[in-house]
Amino acid sequence: MNELRIAVLASGRGSNFQAIAESIKKGTCSAQVAVLITNNPDAKAISIAKAYGIPVEMVDKTKFPDRESFDDFLLTILDRYEVDLVVLAGYMLLLKGKNLLEKYKNKIINIHPSLLPKFPGADAQKQAFAAGEKVSGFTIHFVDASLDGGPIIYQEKVDISDCKSGEEVSAKIIKHEHQAYPKIIDSFSKGKYVIEGKNVRFEPGN
Ligand code: GRF
Repeated sequence: MNELRIAVLASGRGSNFQAIAESIKKGTCSAQVAVLITNNPDAKAISIAKAYGIPVEMVDKTKFPDRESFDDFLLTILDRYEVDLVVLAGYMLLLKGKNLLEKYKNKIINIHPSLLPKFPGADAQKQAFAAGEKVSGFTIHFVDASLDGGPIIYQEKVDISDCKSGEEVSAKIIKHEHQAYPKIIDSFSKGKYVIEGKNVRFEPGN
């Protein structure tokens, strides 16, 4: 297989994006970030992309009449950069475009800071803390039209029993996210994921 070309979509801090770019640079993640796409001109992810020599596409949502046409435009960018895998990393918009979701079906992944299906949506770490959970974690999953409901690729538990706030939960979980996300991306170059309903199974080999 040719080198896996990924697009990272990020709206903010971009620490997962940085972990991915750094792993690629070190040679522990076999992929190339073809493009960073962001909807936020102030995203820290933009300066990270520049530091790694990664092209940036900033797309202003307010320039589009609706989310369908916004996502259609994202689709043209993904096609232009010949992307194999779309990696959401703190991308704060739901993907709503039918064309995008169809064309990139099972080729879009997301990382979410809870053990789904628990605590989908925003502020998952605060939700877990408020619920008094002792164990939380994160989930890497395929993206479909649902809110954080796509087929699950990987989950990892994190002990949060010593955390005194939602912020502490976030700080603890994100370190584990940084380790795992590049590894899962790397796995896409080493085999394929077979998806049957909600079940995902990895088959090594190309
Ligand atoms: C992470 O907690 C990730 O799980 C969630 O958004 C956060 C992004 O953080 N989807 P960063 O922008 O990668 O630092």
